[in-house]
Amino acid sequence: MATITLKDDVTGKAVQMPVLEPTYGHPVVDIGKLAKEFGYFTYDPGFMSTASCQSTITYLDGDKGELMYRGYPIEQLAEQCNFLEVCYLLLYGELPSAEKKELFETSIARHNRIRENLRRFFYGFNHDAHPMAMMAAVVSSLSAFFHDRLDIHDYEHRMVTARRLIAKMPTIAAACYKHSIGDPAIYPRDDLSYTGNLLYMMFSLPGKRYEVDPIAEHALDVLFTLHADHEQNASTSTVRLAGSSGTNPYAAIAAGITCLWGPAHGGANEAVLRMLDQIGDIKNVDGFMAKVKDKNSNVRLMGFGHRVYKNFDPRAKIIKEICHQILDSYGHDPRLDLAMRLEEIALSDDYFIERKLYPNVDFYSGIIYSALKIPVEMFTVMFAIARTAGWITHWMEMITEKDQKIGRPRQLYIGQMRRDVTSMQERD
Ligand code: ACO
Repeated sequence: MATITLKDDVTGKAVQMPVLEPTYGHPVVDIGKLAKEFGYFTYDPGFMSTASCQSTITYLDGDKGELMYRGYPIEQLAEQCNFLEVCYLLLYGELPSAEKKELFETSIARHNRIRENLRRFFYGFNHDAHPMAMMAAVVSSLSAFFHDRLDIHDYEHRMVTARRLIAKMPTIAAACYKHSIGDPAIYPRDDLSYTGNLLYMMFSLPGKRYEVDPIAEHALDVLFTLHADHEQNASTSTVRLAGSSGTNPYAAIAAGITCLWGPAHGGANEAVLRMLDQIGDIKNVDGFMAKVKDKNSNVRLMGFGHRVYKNFDPRAKIIKEICHQILDSYGHDPRLDLAMRLEEIALSDDYFIERKLYPNVDFYSGIIYSALKIPVEMFTVMFAIARTAGWITHWMEMITEKDQKIGRPRQLYIGQMRRDVTSMQERD
């Protein structure tokens, strides 16, 4: 095994630390013994150099712009498999045979309803509640309904929970949307595909005929595949950390949903559309870009940049293609012109080139959702539906780790030194 020798320049003590070899990517120094050997902790805000776990699920190479689930390149999965096959791949580690695929789809269909008393939860929310707020609360409450299968150390319980979550997310998402517009919630149909059902539950009305558009159904299916997992991103790490305490998986996934909501993460697709609406016209693009580059403005080009990708986000390339296909059949959206102009400027501008800022997955996804008449507030909800497959897979990997421990980071304390409480009269 390769090792690295760490030497304390003050005491002269030197200790060899193992270097762990990955299948791909950077070797990782195992510093588990550092505190014991040297009495030091490490400091790495934002986990810039820290691997928080071992994983067999997803690999991404930020410099090459490569992404693989269980070893399969994302481009092949997006083209040759549907989203539920990808969910199966994430959960079980292999692509399903025709028979296993059918069994999995049947199981998802069997679990896609939500209890009537759960549906009543929605009446407690104001009509203008953000759908992410409703979704986080409702997903968390699922643990109150499924006590029967909540033994996190039981394989079958974990798997049925995974299928339940994947199955119920579109139903919950559609119910959030219907509540926000004051329409009755629609029950799922077993004869429709996963994304066909989502569109049906969002856009059909009782008493009205609704045909699922196969172009929209396919576009959503590919978007969901692209969003299904992304190794140790902020929301997935949140799910792992929350789950490491042994809390139930619904509560851990609810924590992931709240993390995803932020504009630096899944909330970026919503932020991109708001940004395009704010720019409004192609003539305002140059002024906007000047603000983006101005250090004092706090304005960012939303949908650009990524902690890991320092090259094209491979998902953005696929999404850009779908975006064009969707707009060809749904009609032109002037915001696509704005987005393309912003991309053109950014890719040839030194500010973005020096910082290796490229379009990320969210730069075009919002335009697609918008063409499909999905409101801006629902964009991150769509992301959450897809990412549930990744979250629950990571949760299962974490919970079954040998010697699994509660995640408990250390800190560098820089607060007050010890002092005594003074009487009220002595305080300012
Ligand atoms: N627009 C303008 N400048 C940017 C942008 C951007 N979108 N992103 C990064 N920069 C600049 C920073 O100002 C910084 O410049 P400096 O070195 O002169 O100070 C440099 O690039 C590095 O930026 P950091 O914020 O340190 O990079 P980090 O890896 O922490 O951030 C992040 C990554 C959060 C994604 C960032 O690029 C960003 O805010 N992008 C916009 C939001 C977005 O699209 N998020 C979606 C990410 S994908 C996802 O979650 C699915």
